[in-house]
Amino acid sequence: MQETNVPIPNQDAEVFHPAPEIVASANVQNVDQVRREAAIDLEGYWARRAGELEWYRKWDKVLDESAKPFFKWFVGGKTNIVLNALDRHVKTWRRNKLALIWEGETGEVRTYSYHALNREVCKFANVLKSMGVAKGDRVTIYMPRIPETVIAMLATAKLGAIHSVVYGGFSVEALHGRIEDSESKVIVTADGGRMNGKTVQLKKIVDEALTRTAAPENVVVVRHLGIDVSMEQGRDFWYHELMTLPLAKNSMRCETEVMDAEDPLFILYTSGTTGKPKAILHTHGGYQVGVYSTIKDVFDLKEEDRWWCTADPGWITGHSYIVYGPLLCGATSFMYEGAPTYPYPDRWWAMIEKYGVTVFYSTPTAIRGLMRFGQAWPGRHDLSTLRLLGSVGEPINPEAWRWFHKYIGREKCPIMDTWWQTETGMFLLTPLPATPLKPGSATLPYPGIDADIFGEDGKPVKVGEEGFLVMRKPWPAMMRTIYKDPDRYVQTYWTKFPGVYFAGDSARRDKDGYFWVIGRVDDVIKVSGYRLGTAELESAFITHPAVAEAAVIGLPHEIKGTAIHAYVILKPGQDGSDALIEELRQYIGHEVGPIAKPEKITIVQSLPKTRSGKIMRRVLKARARGMDEGDLSTLEE
Ligand code: PRX
Repeated sequence: MQETNVPIPNQDAEVFHPAPEIVASANVQNVDQVRREAAIDLEGYWARRAGELEWYRKWDKVLDESAKPFFKWFVGGKTNIVLNALDRHVKTWRRNKLALIWEGETGEVRTYSYHALNREVCKFANVLKSMGVAKGDRVTIYMPRIPETVIAMLATAKLGAIHSVVYGGFSVEALHGRIEDSESKVIVTADGGRMNGKTVQLKKIVDEALTRTAAPENVVVVRHLGIDVSMEQGRDFWYHELMTLPLAKNSMRCETEVMDAEDPLFILYTSGTTGKPKAILHTHGGYQVGVYSTIKDVFDLKEEDRWWCTADPGWITGHSYIVYGPLLCGATSFMYEGAPTYPYPDRWWAMIEKYGVTVFYSTPTAIRGLMRFGQAWPGRHDLSTLRLLGSVGEPINPEAWRWFHKYIGREKCPIMDTWWQTETGMFLLTPLPATPLKPGSATLPYPGIDADIFGEDGKPVKVGEEGFLVMRKPWPAMMRTIYKDPDRYVQTYWTKFPGVYFAGDSARRDKDGYFWVIGRVDDVIKVSGYRLGTAELESAFITHPAVAEAAVIGLPHEIKGTAIHAYVILKPGQDGSDALIEELRQYIGHEVGPIAKPEKITIVQSLPKTRSGKIMRRVLKARARGMDEGDLSTLEE
C-alpha cells in the first residue's frame, strides 16, 4: 500500500460543527434519514431526484443491472442534458438571470444571461451542424478557460455529439493521442490563452499535433488573444466569422436532439496504471441526475448564490461543476481565466469580493500555494459574502484546511471536502452543509452511495485499518465504459473485487464511520491535483533520442502534494550534463504539457526491475525517501 504523509485518523480529531443558520437553511434537512431511506430504496431515491429534472419521455426502469458491470440508468428515458441545463430555464424568468460571469486574466469581463448563453449555444450548434457534426460524432475541445469553452461543450451536447475536452495545459503529444483515439471530426480551439502573464499558443500546438495524425475535417479557432496564427485554408475557420454567417435559416434557434438516457454525452481522457490514457465515457441521463443532485445538496445552491469552482473545464471537476452542475440548477457561475497569483496573490480574494461569490470550490494545492503568501492578502478583502467552501482533487492536509477555514471562511463557512473521480462523475464521499467536519476527512458517503474499505481478501477492514476504497452499489453518474475498450473497463474497475467498484484509492475509516482517503494505490500521480500517469510520461521520455529507458514516480511535495521524479537511463554515448537534463524537462513540457515537467530528473545506470521486466517503482520511492525498501527477493537488477 501507499506510504503517506496523511496522519493516522485521530478519533478524537477536532470536530467542527456547522453554524445553526447553515443547518437551518440547508437544502437537505435530516440527511441521516435521507441516507437511510436511499439505502433501503436506492431506485426510489434516484427516481425522486430524476423527477426534479425534465425528460422528453420518462424512464421505464430506474436501474438495469442485467449486464453488470455495464449498468444502465433510467432505461427508456428520453432527455438531453441541454434540455435541463438551458432549455428548461429559458422558458422561465431565469432567461434574464446571469448564467455566467467571466473575468479574463487581464481584467476584461463578459457576462451571459441564460438567454444569451442559449443563443450562443444555438448558433454554435448550427455551425457545428453545418460542418457535418451529428449525433454520436466526436468533437475535441482544446481551449483556454473562456466562455466559448462552455458554449462549445453545450453546443456539442445539444446536437447529441460527444465532446472530448482536452485540458489546455496539455501539449503536443498528449493532444495528438487524444485526437487520434477519439477520431474527432472537428477541433475547437483558440489562438491562445493566458496563464500567469504568459501566452499559451494553443493553435500552434494544435497545428503540430495535427502533423502527427490524420487530420479532423475542420478546426474552429476562437480569436481570444489576437495573436498571429497560421490558418490552413479549407480546414481552419475563425469562430467569430462562422458565428455571423447565415448558416441555418434561423441561426438563433437549434432543436435540442432527443437522446436516449444512456446515449453518450462525453468522453474524458484520464490516466491509469498502464498504457495510454483511457477515455472515460459518461451519458446524458444518469450523469445529469447525479451531478444536479450532488451540487444542489452539497453546495446547497440557491437562486441567489454566486458559485465559483476554480477548476478548469478540461478536467472532470470542470465538466461536472463548472459547466453542467450549476446550469442544471439554474445557478449563476463565475469563471476566471488565469492564475490565482496574477498580478498579486490576492487576485482570487479580490474577485470573491468584487463579484460577491457565495460558494467557493477549490483545491488543496491552490490553498497551500496561497497560504504561503500569508493571511494579509485575503485580509485586505471583504469575503463576508462567502457561506460555503469546498475542496477536491487530493486529501487536504489539516493545516491547509484550518487556514482555509479561518482566513477565507472567517470560521463561519463549512468546508465540503468532496472525494470523487473522473470515473464517478459526481461526489461520492462528501459532507453536506449540516455534517460535522473533521479536517482532512471527506466524511461520509452521499445518499445512495454504498462505500466500504476492503482488505486484499475482499473483506471489510477493521476500524482504523488501511484498505482499498470500494463502492458496492452503482450510482447514476458513474462511467459506463472506457470508450472503445470495454474489457479494460471491466478489468480496471470490477475485477479486483468481483462485482464491486474498485476506485484505486486507499483509505481508512474511523469509529464514527468517517472516511479518510489516503491516496492512489496505483501508478497515477496527482501533481497539484492534476491526474497524470507514469506510463504516459515514461513513453514521452523514450521518444527523446538521448533516452534509452525511464521510470517516473511521485514524491511528496509541500505545495503540489506530489511532484514528479524521473529516473532516466541514457543511450550509450550520451552525457548526463545539466544541459541535457534541462532539455529533457523542456521536452516533457513540450510533449505532455507544462504540468508534467519533472521536479527532478536523475540519470541512472539501471532501474530496479522484477524478473519479468516490470519496473519496481516502490523500490525507487523507498530509496528516494530513505525508507525501508521492503522485500527485494523479486528484484532482478
Ligand atoms: O485519489 C483520489 C483523488 O483524486 C483521484 C481522482 O482524480 P480525478 O479523476 O482527476 O478527479 C479529480 C476530481 C474529482 C481520486 O482517485 N481525490 C479526489 N478528491 C479527493 C481525492 N483524494 C482525497 N480527498 C479528496 N477530496
